[in-house]
Amino acid sequence: MSTTKKQITITKDTVLFRQGDAGDCAYVIESGKVLIYIEKGSVEVPIAHIKKGEIFGEMSLIDNSPRSASVRATEDTVLNKITRDQLVDRYQSSDQLVQLLLRVMMSRLRRNNNTLMNTNNSQDESALEEATSNDAFGNIRLENRLLEALNNQEFEMFYQPIVDMEQNKIIGCEALIRWKDPIAGYISPDKFIDFLENSSLMIPVGQWIFETCFKDFNKFKDQFGSDFVMSINVSGRQFVHQDFLIDLEKLTWKHKVLPKNIKLEVTERVMMDGFNAMDILNRCTEKGFQISIDDFGTGFSSLQYLSQMPVNYLKIDRSFVSKINSDPKVLAVVKSMIYMAKELGMSIIAEGVETATERDVLLSLDANLAQGWLYCKAVPIQDFLKLPIHFSLKKAA
Ligand code: CMP
Ligand code: MG
Repeated sequence: MSTTKKQITITKDTVLFRQGDAGDCAYVIESGKVLIYIEKGSVEVPIAHIKKGEIFGEMSLIDNSPRSASVRATEDTVLNKITRDQLVDRYQSSDQLVQLLLRVMMSRLRRNNNTLMNTNNSQDESALEEATSNDAFGNIRLENRLLEALNNQEFEMFYQPIVDMEQNKIIGCEALIRWKDPIAGYISPDKFIDFLENSSLMIPVGQWIFETCFKDFNKFKDQFGSDFVMSINVSGRQFVHQDFLIDLEKLTWKHKVLPKNIKLEVTERVMMDGFNAMDILNRCTEKGFQISIDDFGTGFSSLQYLSQMPVNYLKIDRSFVSKINSDPKVLAVVKSMIYMAKELGMSIIAEGVETATERDVLLSLDANLAQGWLYCKAVPIQDFLKLPIHFSLKKAA
């Protein structure tokens, strides 16, 4: 057997390893052929003849068990080694469900091999047992339920006012999706939004959101005036979708909504997509849409991108606002955000404003726009339309 760093050549009839050995690497066949077989006493039971381009020896690396079969070259054979780290790193970074499916398949192969040897190893069943209780299938169930929810029109849009705190005046709203299960009632957004945003369903659900919001927009405009701005959350998946802007424009024409009345809320994570994100953001602003960065300061802030991107608003996350009175360090961070936004020509919207004291601190820092329970929670459109344009709120004592 001659060995280079990664490639080894084995001559015909060489046994590369035997079942039960510890496994330290997998192999890709570059040329030649090998036989995978089970040793039943002195009898060899062939399992598979494999050739160029195929992989073997991967199972013991993934399920951390001894070699499940023996392998012998049936021709002079050149192999490329795949180290444990190379394989395991990739395996671990794959989707949880795909990992589970792999373990289940390997478990079945081991079980078949054991049947051939007339032995039974309860360890081989663990992946099969794990599969019956694993949460990965729970995600598939949730995905199916969300698709059903879309088809059965179980989603609703709620709207939360965005207020000019100086004038106590409603100047816009943020559109927020809600899911009403016919039996369980409203399902907490924490239970499905992250999941939805990371699934391919976000594209059709995103379409439904835009369609519903644009339909509703004209009612808001009639009530609150032509400067009313509706903020709509856009996930990274939607944003980088090739038809995003084309579909969005078509919808504005269909519902006669002006892009200047629509603010697209994207998270910092979306900005991190570098050139691609920058390009889409630029095209959105060219068309007249406004851009807001959501949850600013809670994710992967990149000040470099921020300074180059056409952003109109920064939203200060509720986690900052709720500590603005109690934690001087948080206050300092908020002050810096407001200063930075001003210098970059952006406006600030404070989220989660719940008390008059929080409002007064924000006003004293020259942050004028806010949303939060102090004013109103997210409500269905019919309730929103009953709100007065001006809130009557007094300053905190
Ligand atoms: P590993 O268990 O590391 O070492 C033996 C290899 O043979 C195993 O990884 C697989 O690559 C392969 N192998 C084991 N059982 C089967 C089977 N039933 N069918 C095909 N390939 C197998
Ligand atoms: Mg938002």
